[in-house]
Amino acid sequence: LRQAARPAVIWLSFQECTGCTESLTRSYTPSIEELIFDLISLDYHHTLQAASGEAAEAARQETIQHHAGKYWLIVDGSIPTAADGVYSTIAGRTNLDMLREGVANAAIVIAVGSCAAFGGLAAAQPNPTGANSVAALMQAGLIATKPLVNLPGCPPLPMAISSLFAYLLAFERLPDLDALKRPLSIYGNSVHDRCSRYRYYAEEKFAKRFGDEGHRKGWCLYKLGCKGPVAHNACSLHQWNEGTSSPIEAGYPCIGCSEPDFWDKGSFYQS
Ligand code: SF4
Ligand code: SF4
Ligand code: F3S
Repeated sequence: LRQAARPAVIWLSFQECTGCTESLTRSYTPSIEELIFDLISLDYHHTLQAASGEAAEAARQETIQHHAGKYWLIVDGSIPTAADGVYSTIAGRTNLDMLREGVANAAIVIAVGSCAAFGGLAAAQPNPTGANSVAALMQAGLIATKPLVNLPGCPPLPMAISSLFAYLLAFERLPDLDALKRPLSIYGNSVHDRCSRYRYYAEEKFAKRFGDEGHRKGWCLYKLGCKGPVAHNACSLHQWNEGTSSPIEAGYPCIGCSEPDFWDKGSFYQS
């Protein structure tokens, strides 16, 4: 990987909560330091860049001009389109305007997190800002159509982000994707398929209330609303915080955060 040319990267953050960037900073194979110092040239990222104000915007413009057709455009957060997009602006420009400019000259577009991939939280009913995903804007013809990879999750696994970067650097082509443009290497299996509690599911040993005997013994969380059987993600395999844990490992049912519209699908539950 170190012999690969460092691609210029513009990371645009729109209607988001910075959780996706938090996830990026917890990348460990490679680490965030290896990523941004050795493997990619992260030319624009609100939270991580040293520059601010006009200097930051100048850096973005310079990348667009000098690396046209070659840079990676990464988006986290949804894009508001109601009321001409005024619900979210950066440097006096709407998110849609800035996205349109960035996509037009990008080699590849990567939608990080369920907000950018599917609309996410801001697009949940009643969606007051008219929030859209990157894919929806491409489909509607509001931005140029480019090769697109979705890395959903709220936030996505650090491994989902770093493994895509590694693949692009090593092979210079898109990885195999599913119908929702998610890399099969991360999203090809359900959470349920690889769950550490699966044997309890097979034995029909279920926790029925938070804190009951089954919950304390680590039994299956299906009857507490676990969406693992319909959620495609690799959390059971790679886990979080350098492989420390995952929602299910911590006793919390999966809410299907890597699937479209999970906010409106009754994913949340009451104890
Ligand atoms: Fe935040 Fe989740 Fe949206 Fe990422 S996908 S910006 S973590 S709400
Ligand atoms: Fe499947 Fe959820 Fe039970 Fe794990 S806890 S086995 S993902 S239903
Ligand atoms: Fe999300 Fe479920 Fe994994 S909530 S983090 S897909 S366990």
